[in-house]
Amino acid sequence: MLIRLLREHLAPYRRWLLAVVLLQGLGVVAALYLPSLNADIIDNGIVAGDTGYIVRVGAVMLGVSAVQLLASVGSAWYGARTAMSLGRDLRGALFHRVQTFSAREVNQLGAPSLITRTTNDVQQVQMLVAMASIIAVTSPIMMVGGIVMALREDAGLGWLLGVVVPALFVAVGFVVSRMVPSFRLMQVRIDAVNRILREQVAGIRVVRAFVREPYETRRFERANDDLTDVALRAGRWMASLFPIVILLVNLGSVAVIWFGGHRVDAGETGVGSLTAFLSYLMLIMMSVMMATFMLMQVPRSAVCADRIAEVLDTRTSVTPPADPVPLDPARRGWLDVEGVSFAYPGAADPVVCDVSFSARPGQTVAVVGSTGSGKTTLLNLLARLVDATSGTVRVAGTDVRQLDPDELWSDLGLVPQKAWLFSGTVRANLLHGRPDATEADLWAALEVAQARDFVEAMPEGLDAPVSQGGSNFSGGQRQRLAIARAVVRRPSLYLFDDSFSALDVATDARLRAALRPVTTEATVVVVAQRVSTILEADLIVVLDDGRVVGLGTHADLVLDCPTYREIVASQLGVEEGDAA
Ligand SMILES: Nc1ncnc2c1ncn2[C@@H]1O[C@H](COP(=O)(O)OP(=O)(O)OP(=O)(O)O)[C@@H](O)[C@H]1O
Ligand SMILES: [Mg+2]
Repeated sequence: MLIRLLREHLAPYRRWLLAVVLLQGLGVVAALYLPSLNADIIDNGIVAGDTGYIVRVGAVMLGVSAVQLLASVGSAWYGARTAMSLGRDLRGALFHRVQTFSAREVNQLGAPSLITRTTNDVQQVQMLVAMASIIAVTSPIMMVGGIVMALREDAGLGWLLGVVVPALFVAVGFVVSRMVPSFRLMQVRIDAVNRILREQVAGIRVVRAFVREPYETRRFERANDDLTDVALRAGRWMASLFPIVILLVNLGSVAVIWFGGHRVDAGETGVGSLTAFLSYLMLIMMSVMMATFMLMQVPRSAVCADRIAEVLDTRTSVTPPADPVPLDPARRGWLDVEGVSFAYPGAADPVVCDVSFSARPGQTVAVVGSTGSGKTTLLNLLARLVDATSGTVRVAGTDVRQLDPDELWSDLGLVPQKAWLFSGTVRANLLHGRPDATEADLWAALEVAQARDFVEAMPEGLDAPVSQGGSNFSGGQRQRLAIARAVVRRPSLYLFDDSFSALDVATDARLRAALRPVTTEATVVVVAQRVSTILEADLIVVLDDGRVVGLGTHADLVLDCPTYREIVASQLGVEEGDAA
């Protein structure tokens, strides 16, 4: 999965990668050449007392060092650019993919997880690329080249490499194999901490109100401690890695000097060669270390890549048609629901079952039913936020699945049950309804939504700030702004999901009166609790457990629908109570 992800998303940066590879190759060749030049100076310059030779070879060494420096700066530069661009692309791809998701896929993956995947997981993959762009080419060349060059300097000491290098591999391999499971666990526990934190921050008021703070604090502490534990475990192994490697390197150096010293004494090799051999040993050890670090990152990034790919491979269940039918202008506002059922994935029982009704422009359909009876789900089906499991929803005479979703949605004015505002200003939120609306349109819509007073009362008026989700407005104000946003759009189909619930009876009545002239040409579907709203409807759909148990006008239903009579009775009780 990691490889596939990298292959797909690194493709645009092939040139940079090529530069990284070439520069790394150049750098490592230069690094390998330096110790042998140094040996030359010692053996043929200093020992022979030839100052001219020392200066000449010294100059070459300087040149080679400069090449090495430039090559590593260059490869790090291109490597960083590649890694950062990859991160940006992956985040962009994730964001665009999530944008296409219907409510179903977002539920399935979970919003907190989607956020972790877009931030933390992408970062882990990015880190691997950044590391690889420094190490991947250098390390193997350095290892093999170091061995070859060391043998060239003094083959007689070659057996030492045969002992030290495998010992290093075994030691480092052992430590890394201990660390990898901890890293994997760490990713899972970071997720857990994120989840708890998110839940508690989002629900802070509920936590306070129910005096759950001590419990929630303990819950967070536990998750936090778990994460610390596993990070510490990995950290302890990591801490032991360096001393082990340094110990091996020092033992190796002592052995080289001991055995090499005897060989120099015997005249079998020069001091310079011995020095070079030592340098090569260091290079080999360094390459093993670098390779280790990268190998350590690979499993971690692989886990993250799987999680990223899972999102990128999820296709929305609401797919736009290949060949969309244009909206029929002559039938704008027509709504026909034919035997529609919907079941959540994995659930056996449908939440909406075999619902049928029709409405024409100028009509109002009220959907009533007890809580959990499927009203919101039905509206989501009408707006094609989810697709029906069976049956057909027709808007403007065409199956919604054959319409271009953007065209469909731009002709809908949906006011969701949980009025959601975007951070920004009131104006920006209203313009979501229709970007080219004029100032006068906005005020007119606010007037209809009974929101004009409180917007006018704010010193900034239309430019008053809105915080995330609209949390700086009251529930009723939020609802009215959401209604104004839908009105600005002037759609031919309004969908109100319990949108008047937070309004007092008088405001509710004024709002409905103001809506009437606006919606003469449009169809209105309204999920309602108040009898006063329901009474005006041309058609009432009574839902019980997802099934239609009553369909008709108030007058019909009072006569022959017991569920409806119950609802009305309970509502009248409430309204009498309100009046008292
Ligand atoms: N994402 C989901 N996954 C699984 N089941 C769900 C999901 N969302 C809602 N349901 C179930 O679908 C049923 C209908 O929910 P829906 O939100 O449509 O009810 P509602 O009539 O709008 O209720 P309310 O009046 O409280 O808003 C409920 O029983 C609920 O448990
Ligand atoms: Mg609902």
